[in-house]
Amino acid sequence: MNTIQGTSATVIAVTSGKGGVGKTNVAINVGVALARLGYRTGVLDADLSLGNVDVLLGLSGEYHLGHVLAGQRSLREVALTGPQGLQVYPASSGMQALSGLTAAQERALAAAIRDIRPSLDFLLLDTAPGISEGVFQAIALADQVMLVASMEPAGLVDAYATVKVLTARSATKEIGVVVNGVVDANDAQLAYKQLDTASDRFLKRSLRYLGYVSRDPLVQDAILVQRPIVDHNPQAPASRCFRVLASRVAGLAPGNGQGSHIGARRQFGSGEMPQCA
Ligand SMILES: Nc1ncnc2c1ncn2[C@@H]1O[C@H](COP(=O)(O)OP(=O)(O)O)[C@@H](O)[C@H]1O
Ligand SMILES: [Mg+2]
Repeated sequence: MNTIQGTSATVIAVTSGKGGVGKTNVAINVGVALARLGYRTGVLDADLSLGNVDVLLGLSGEYHLGHVLAGQRSLREVALTGPQGLQVYPASSGMQALSGLTAAQERALAAAIRDIRPSLDFLLLDTAPGISEGVFQAIALADQVMLVASMEPAGLVDAYATVKVLTARSATKEIGVVVNGVVDANDAQLAYKQLDTASDRFLKRSLRYLGYVSRDPLVQDAILVQRPIVDHNPQAPASRCFRVLASRVAGLAPGNGQGSHIGARRQFGSGEMPQCA
């Protein structure tokens, strides 16, 4: 999918098996890092029951996705502006059961995203935990999936189960993997290789490695002040990783098989690449 400015946003669904693996943190920090690179970027909170993108960014507004699904507002009208000009489309807490959107709501969301696409380079959809119907509806609206896997013991099994379900439901969508909560960089590569090997062998599905995020206590400090860590503490280990991830998503970093992005205004110093890659 081409994302050259003036055409249409690449829509990426950020997903995982279970909750609490860092999806929302990945979505907002990669989003802010992409915006800092000069890409017009949005994060849409597609976790309709427990969405917290606005909270983590310290934003609040009158309107939310509920108004969009009801046909009362456009995405542009509910947008809040976050750090680096990130466009945030908030959900409202407890709005929707995990059973998913009605057919009419699904159509409204698809139309709203279609409407906003020309004005963005990247749109990240932060999905609910698990692989509920609502999550599949969000994935169906995306061009690619960003699967966040945790380094906890059950994390890989959980990620594999997610790839399996994704493959059954959506055989062709590209799946990029982010390993979160990494202590040792070698472990991240190893974990990804195990996941990719199993997916390739048993599901005939190859994945794309996007990188990892260090386990970093400073992430929690940023959450407490309701700011994305890339903005609050740019030198934190996790911030470096989020910037590398953003450059991978944008096709600026090596190893992803994509060309560079014409709209990019800034690239990262080469010193940042070896870490977090
Ligand atoms: N790289 C990290 N280092 C340390 N803690 C993290 C990291 N990523 C996430 N966390 C912790 O995990 C919690 C859940 O993250 P969150 O992004 O809300 O997960 P999800 O959206 O998948 O439910 C955060 O509140 C934070 O405390
Ligand atoms: Mg979340």
